[in-house]
Amino acid sequence: MKRILLLAAAVLLAVVPSAARKTKKATPKEHQVVAIPQIEKQVIAIETSNSQLVFLAQPNGVLHTCHYGSKIADPKQFMDYNLRQGTDYGKGPMAYPTQGGAYANEPALSVRYADGSRNTELYYVSHQVKDKGNVVTTEILMKDYVTSLEVKLVYDAYRKEDVILSHAEIANGGKTPVELIDYASSSLYLDADKYLLTSTYGDWSAEMQIEREVLGHNLKVIETKRGTQATQWNNPSFMLSLNTDSFSETDGEVIAGSLCWSGNFRISFEKNVAHRLNVIAGINPFSSEYPLAPGATFVTPDMIWTWSGQGAGQATRNIHAWARRYGVYGGGQITPTLLNSWEGAYFTFTTETLLRMIDDAAAMGLEMFVLDDGWFAMDYPRDSDKQGLGDWEVNTRKIPEGIDYVASYAHSKGLKFGIWIEPEMVNPKSNLAQAHPDWVVRSPGREILQARNQWVLDLTNPEVQDFVFGIFDNTMSLAPNIDYIKFDSNRPIMSMGSDYLGAEQNRFYVDYVQGLYNVMRRVREKYPDTIVQCCSSGGSRVDYGSLKYFNEYWTSDDTDAMERVKIQYGTSLFYPACTMGSHVSDVPNHQTGNVTPLKFRFDIAAAGRLGMELQPKNLSESDRALADRCIRSYKGFRDLVFNGDLYRLSSPYESDYYAFMYVSEDRSRAVVYLYSTNYLNRAIGSKTFRLQGLDPAKQYKIEELNVDKSCFAGSGSVYSGDYLMGGGFTPQIFKTFASAVFYLEAR
Ligand code: GLA
Repeated sequence: MKRILLLAAAVLLAVVPSAARKTKKATPKEHQVVAIPQIEKQVIAIETSNSQLVFLAQPNGVLHTCHYGSKIADPKQFMDYNLRQGTDYGKGPMAYPTQGGAYANEPALSVRYADGSRNTELYYVSHQVKDKGNVVTTEILMKDYVTSLEVKLVYDAYRKEDVILSHAEIANGGKTPVELIDYASSSLYLDADKYLLTSTYGDWSAEMQIEREVLGHNLKVIETKRGTQATQWNNPSFMLSLNTDSFSETDGEVIAGSLCWSGNFRISFEKNVAHRLNVIAGINPFSSEYPLAPGATFVTPDMIWTWSGQGAGQATRNIHAWARRYGVYGGGQITPTLLNSWEGAYFTFTTETLLRMIDDAAAMGLEMFVLDDGWFAMDYPRDSDKQGLGDWEVNTRKIPEGIDYVASYAHSKGLKFGIWIEPEMVNPKSNLAQAHPDWVVRSPGREILQARNQWVLDLTNPEVQDFVFGIFDNTMSLAPNIDYIKFDSNRPIMSMGSDYLGAEQNRFYVDYVQGLYNVMRRVREKYPDTIVQCCSSGGSRVDYGSLKYFNEYWTSDDTDAMERVKIQYGTSLFYPACTMGSHVSDVPNHQTGNVTPLKFRFDIAAAGRLGMELQPKNLSESDRALADRCIRSYKGFRDLVFNGDLYRLSSPYESDYYAFMYVSEDRSRAVVYLYSTNYLNRAIGSKTFRLQGLDPAKQYKIEELNVDKSCFAGSGSVYSGDYLMGGGFTPQIFKTFASAVFYLEAR
């Protein structure tokens, strides 16, 4: 024994340098290792009726994601889940990966501390569950024991809808300021062999085009840096079909997501060598390092997740059902059909023009008249988009009697009345631009670039927020009963810069969106019942951040019905029909020059909140009669458009037909829409459409609407649900622009 000790001392003498042997130096404070409390290993399961998100808190406090998929009765079995990696910090499927430890992929969170250090390690502290009936909230508290940064991961599980909302609350528990670099809302590790991503791309007048790709091993990102008009090129929504390279409406596992944010967003998809995919979604870190003072908390926007075991159709229905009940202001509430003045009158009108349009709208059975752009500004009259924006007084040369007169006239005809504003923008040629150059978004010393001849007002500035709210408020006071506001926003941010923010320019993109939400919160407190449309050169602000305050959006300035096929199909993947403004316009179409039949235009517009946007007096007598008929029939089934479940039957990307249906919750009524987008000769044309979502045991009377002679020989007859879904429904529809709407009611 003595010999062994002597030997050990000799070895020690050999490896310890002589200086250290003399005086044993204390480890400097910054090099002392802070102990991480060990915890009891545990499973945390977040559940909806059919889905489950499972986390595993390891004994060392690292939190891993084990499962997002079908519901397992006893999730405790995940206790032995094989991570296929160690549990050192940063290894394995981290629930909310941070820059720190062994983690070397895209982080959900990375920060810069006051001393310049960049490492964050978040360990599980505790969690609590609050059961609020259909919504169960799970909050998981995580902590960095070195820096005292805390993150609360919050998951709201909507049981019935199979939707989970997820956000992070990042709190600076330290004594010095912190800079947030990446601060995502949510991160989700998935475990499948293949991931087929469906995402959107587009531009003005071509929004929500669909693209599909099987994800490879490199990083894939969908994002925007446009600031305003954030969804013009991309939408913060996607679907992932798992273990397949083909998109199915009815089969297989699909995970869909959508970020509730109206500004710069970023969603990254990173697949590792073991085919695990990490999805991180949140505010785009681009030029947005955000300061977090000691004691302050940053709450990220919500990320919506849903899982379906029955294809993309069910994923859509989950999100739609959640949106109607929780996600959209006034969701599911039926809003009126309308005539909008824009494409019928543009900037050129008088009181007389408007009154006659109101007469025509009333005669056709429409329920609201909306006065679009052009009604305001005296010194720089808004006779074109070149001037006047910002000067929100009524142009009494066009409407000497005032807005109240026009609104009252509409009301006297039984119509509601709506009006257009674009309060966060300004034309350089306006009194506002001259009075408040400090309110304009601009980079010092540089020319302020124009888009649509206008500039953006700096909504990070509370004074500007007051002004923008004031425009809404004053417009509402132009007449006692304004029922609807179209709230527009017609350009992106360029040369970002804010006088108000001074040296803190990095706050701009985030504070701008918060400023918009501040305005909309005030709008909703004061005007809970006003219908507000979110417009942004068409569909450039279509997201679940804005829909919290807006009833609907203007889907696209492209009103060509054939173009709308793809735009509305893409939109339908994520946003419910009750939010989709769709209007019948004139031909040749003002955007595309195409001529499409009026019936085709009505059948497309009737897929959402129906409106018209043309000069009705230019319609022929037979077109007027058809319009009356289509509007009347729409009112008969529109509760299905606003509240029914969507089943897509045929995709315009994969066939010559776009076809879908809305079904009532009790499956007793349905409306089916069919559009033929190409000519197919009579012999090969005309597809068999297998309906979905019906009750197989019910008998349905099926009837084509808006025609004297139906394209289906069985129109007016009764068929069983199992026949219509299994056997099929065989209308004769094969010409380009042929369309049909069928109404089904159970006997
Ligand atoms: C935008 C909108 C249009 C119309 C015009 C008015 O382009 O998308 O619907 O309101 O502005 O200028």
